[in-house]
Amino acid sequence: MSHLLASLLRSLPSFPDDLPPFPVADAPEDPADLFADWLAHAADAGVLAPHAMTLSTSGPDGVVTARTLILKDIDEHGWVFASRDDGTKARDLGANPFAALTFFWPALGRQVRVSGPVRKRPQAEGEADFRARPEESRAAAFVGHQSEPLGSLDEYAAAYADAVARLAENPRLVARTWNTWAVAADRVEFWQASPSRAHVRLEYRLRGRAWERGLLWP
Ligand SMILES: Cc1cc2nc3c(=O)[nH]c(=O)nc-3n(C[C@H](O)[C@H](O)[C@H](O)COP(=O)(O)O)c2cc1C
Repeated sequence: MSHLLASLLRSLPSFPDDLPPFPVADAPEDPADLFADWLAHAADAGVLAPHAMTLSTSGPDGVVTARTLILKDIDEHGWVFASRDDGTKARDLGANPFAALTFFWPALGRQVRVSGPVRKRPQAEGEADFRARPEESRAAAFVGHQSEPLGSLDEYAAAYADAVARLAENPRLVARTWNTWAVAADRVEFWQASPSRAHVRLEYRLRGRAWERGLLWP
């Protein structure tokens, strides 16, 4: 089994042969601009969920956890995501307010890595995000206990139905546990695969208020 799995893993393709160029000399001063450009390119190329990213955090005991989240915006405070404030990520960030975000767009052979300190945003922003969610997502956010052990799927179905009923009764209800956080990036790296394996890595590092750019060995 392990031998079969190992040969399957060795045979899997990673990237198409036709990959976009990465003219690093033309890279903009602000990594958010280059990210917006790459994201639009990924969406145009049909990459599914190009706004999905891995958020990595670590708790007070040094244990690292990672999960997929949706990027909501990049504004003056940083790279914004939304979630409940009673799960593992919120506990981790309360103890150690630093995080890394990783985007991976295989159809383009591209990866973007972002890291920096994280700040919870004011409750009003969490409320605005909650109100903008589709009805089912609002109901899902209302069901508590995220990441706690669940006895059965029926138990969840009942809690979800209860949340749907409460929202139908009062559509203006807001889950107070729903919040937004912003990663104030101080490092952003753009990685472009090349069929020749001469992969190109461009790193932006924040020095004071200005971004410095430099290549990294692949
Ligand atoms: C594509 C995708 C997008 C997701 N987006 C979010 C999101 O925006 N916010 C969120 O709280 N969870 C999102 N999740 C669920 C998280 O990955 C995770 O299961 C949940 O937030 C609990 O994480 P935690 O216990 O580490 O805090 C998403 C999962 C997937 C697969």
